[in-house]
Amino acid sequence: MLSIPHDIITAKDFGKNFKWGVAIAAAQNEGATDVDGKGKSIWDSFTKNGSKIKGAAKLTTACDFYHRYKDDLLLVKALGFSLFRFSISWARILPDGTGKINKEGINFYHRVIDECLKLGLIPYVTLYHWDLPQELENKGGWTNYFINKWFSRFVTICAEAYGSKVKHWIILNEPFGFTTLGYMLGKHAPGKKGLGNFLPAIHHAALAQAEGGRIIRRLVEQAHIGTTFSCSQVIPYSDKKEDLAAANRIDILMNRLFIEPALGKGYPVDDSFKFLEKLQLHNKTWKYTERLHFDFDFIGLQYYFPVVVKHNSYIPIIQATEVKATVRKMPVTAMGWEINADSFYRTIKKIWLYGGVKEILITENGAAFKDELKNGIIDDRARINYFNQHLQAMLKAKKEGVNIKGYFAWTLMDNFEWSEGYHPRFGLVHVDLKTQLRTIKNSGYWWRDFLQ
Ligand code: NOJ
Repeated sequence: MLSIPHDIITAKDFGKNFKWGVAIAAAQNEGATDVDGKGKSIWDSFTKNGSKIKGAAKLTTACDFYHRYKDDLLLVKALGFSLFRFSISWARILPDGTGKINKEGINFYHRVIDECLKLGLIPYVTLYHWDLPQELENKGGWTNYFINKWFSRFVTICAEAYGSKVKHWIILNEPFGFTTLGYMLGKHAPGKKGLGNFLPAIHHAALAQAEGGRIIRRLVEQAHIGTTFSCSQVIPYSDKKEDLAAANRIDILMNRLFIEPALGKGYPVDDSFKFLEKLQLHNKTWKYTERLHFDFDFIGLQYYFPVVVKHNSYIPIIQATEVKATVRKMPVTAMGWEINADSFYRTIKKIWLYGGVKEILITENGAAFKDELKNGIIDDRARINYFNQHLQAMLKAKKEGVNIKGYFAWTLMDNFEWSEGYHPRFGLVHVDLKTQLRTIKNSGYWWRDFLQ
């Protein structure tokens, strides 16, 4: 075991009420995809023939969290975290998305929750982390207006089953991520493309995040309710007018599209970005502006990297392209994402300055690097540096008055990174995918020391 000094800050600098956790998600970790009555999810289908995923990776076993959750929760405890964020697989609870409840699925999450409570870990439950039941996708998935009815039933079942034990609820994980990658660009499940899919998916997801919040409020006493957003600082490539306008369009999409309706401001429609007016139209005709609003107890901010954007008239609608960090010769993670903690600080401040945000939790932050396992040790200094810098940035924002109450590292163990397969390793714990052997990385020990 290795001890790395924390030269600059310790967990104590954040105050004793600040909470520290680690996050995972069902599809990325559980495996057991057709065990105990679970239905198929869109990711089970999307990974089936392998062509869309690096290394033709499958979810069938993943990290086998379904069978190893007790040991994995012991690891969470051993690393010193007090919060554990995980998601519920909708298709485990309702195999075809709407019909009969699968008791075995309900019981699995009871076991996980009970184990957390036994170990003194506080469960944070995410209701939707991208694994829609395939049966619902067959009916149009997030593009179908009825998704709101289906989602409400799923949320109701979870609230009734777990509400007496779970008080912290996250409605959606990164709605911009799953609507863009899954319904506009076709890179994630269900692989759909085009505005005809994207716009209705945005609207239904925005409705679901608010409606989900209302259901939990109604059914769970003393609930602490949030939803998460992927956020990036969007930096114009130059101060030319056209680059500034391009950066503004990307900012609207990446940062404002879902948080503004949640805060009661409606969709961020801008004169320079007409296509979103179609959403406003939905808004007016369906008189749903107020239904997009919910008084969240906290906003879950997920931060990984900034983006630099310049004008490009060849790109339809958004007329902008990203100038990649590698082109700009900036330090990057194994995902090619720029490492920039100052940008994390600015992102936190920006979300806080909206007004109307009561509390911020960092519900994901972390980095993938090319880890090498040598003699049973992973000396992942780059990841330790990443955390060190980002925690300092967060502390700066906190000291300047942002009501930031907690932080979740992404992620407990190396797992399925969506279309990137198992190649990028984000974990604090290394997983040998053949043997399922877990090895705590030096960054895991660093966290243990940091939290002591
Ligand atoms: C955001 C997603 O919520 C999570 O599932 C993913 O693994 C991380 N970002 C890293 O890409």
